[in-house]
Amino acid sequence: MVATTARAMARWESEGGALAPRALRDDFPGLTDGWHYLDSAVTAQKPQVVIDAATRAMGVDYASVHRGVYARSANMTQAYEAARRRVAQFIGGREDEIVFVRGATEGINLIAQTHRDKGRVLLSTLEHHSNIVPWQLAGWQVDVCPLTADGRIDLDAAAAMLTPAHKMVALAHVSNVLGSVLDVTRAAELAHGVGAELLIDGCQAIPRLPVDMAALGCDHYVFSGHKLYGPTGIGVLWSRKLADLPPWQGGGSMIDRVTFERTTYAPAPMRFEAGTPAIVEAVALHAAVDYVDAIGVAAIHAHEGALVAATRDALRKFNSITLYGPDDSVGIVSFAMAGVHPHDIATILDESGVAIRAGHHCAQPLMDYLGVPATARASFGLYSDESDVAALVDGLHRVTRIFG
Ligand SMILES: Cc1ncc(COP(=O)(O)O)c(C=O)c1O
Repeated sequence: MVATTARAMARWESEGGALAPRALRDDFPGLTDGWHYLDSAVTAQKPQVVIDAATRAMGVDYASVHRGVYARSANMTQAYEAARRRVAQFIGGREDEIVFVRGATEGINLIAQTHRDKGRVLLSTLEHHSNIVPWQLAGWQVDVCPLTADGRIDLDAAAAMLTPAHKMVALAHVSNVLGSVLDVTRAAELAHGVGAELLIDGCQAIPRLPVDMAALGCDHYVFSGHKLYGPTGIGVLWSRKLADLPPWQGGGSMIDRVTFERTTYAPAPMRFEAGTPAIVEAVALHAAVDYVDAIGVAAIHAHEGALVAATRDALRKFNSITLYGPDDSVGIVSFAMAGVHPHDIATILDESGVAIRAGHHCAQPLMDYLGVPATARASFGLYSDESDVAALVDGLHRVTRIFG
């Protein structure tokens, strides 16, 4: 176990099992003093252990994978495949079900394009653009499941909408705007009931909720490494259906035998990893998974839930603020302030050292449904604490004073 992970665990245990974000912050060089980072839903800050793993992989350990017969390359191949095994273990899957992709976006594009039976796909109103546009581009006919009044995907409506023409249901596990959580098990039962497969966009769930592929019952699950305290440029497609899918991108590494007349392909998952893969990123993602797992996603979930509750309570005291999403939203609080554009809120907060996100959050159909062009969004990570909530609230008082 790497030193910083061991230190993080020791600190965690010394707090009696509760997260000690103040101490954990020391692991994150990006979290400079006096800066309140409330944008972890867009990307998480990186612990030193991840930076060190990337530095070693790009420095003293560096070599390509799957090719060299020399020891350094063989070692790097082992490290790359160990990352695959670690990710599989973390999410309760098998290593031959794990494809390293560039991110969730690429994983969804892969499934949308390679699925042999493109028919109707059922999405929902709250999906991120990366779970909308790939289906349109690949020629699927899109149906849209509505939301409940409190911002959850309405699975009763989904049950009524699904027909045997649906070959896929593709839904976010956690909304990146509302923080609402999907009942994946029920979604799987509904999809499978009409013979459709279920793809889950786990981008916002993976750093916030313990996940277990066997228990969830979905067919495909995608997420991005950079939201799980790992590097950009790598993500994961887990699929129990890889053997049914044809190759996607062609190139080196994904083949068995190439001639000008005919090419045969490597088995999954290599069949889907054409070209030199993201070696450094895979090794660093392994370190990120170790780090998060040592702390425990369940502890992170409880910690972020308390911060969401405190934030929602504080924001409710502003007459001008509208809160979006359910009270039990996970790690994410979206809101609007009457008469103030979210960009102005974010700009004024930035002057006070509080970084939030303002915009459509790559969810324009959801903004249309909410009847707003944009929202302000505060989102938490394992290192967030009450001082971040207090700074946000102070900053919002300043916004109120400036806008009268
Ligand atoms: C719910 C959700 N899905 C998909 C994505 C796309 O992730 P990436 O851009 O890393 O592929 C994001 C990123 O914000 C997200 O929040």
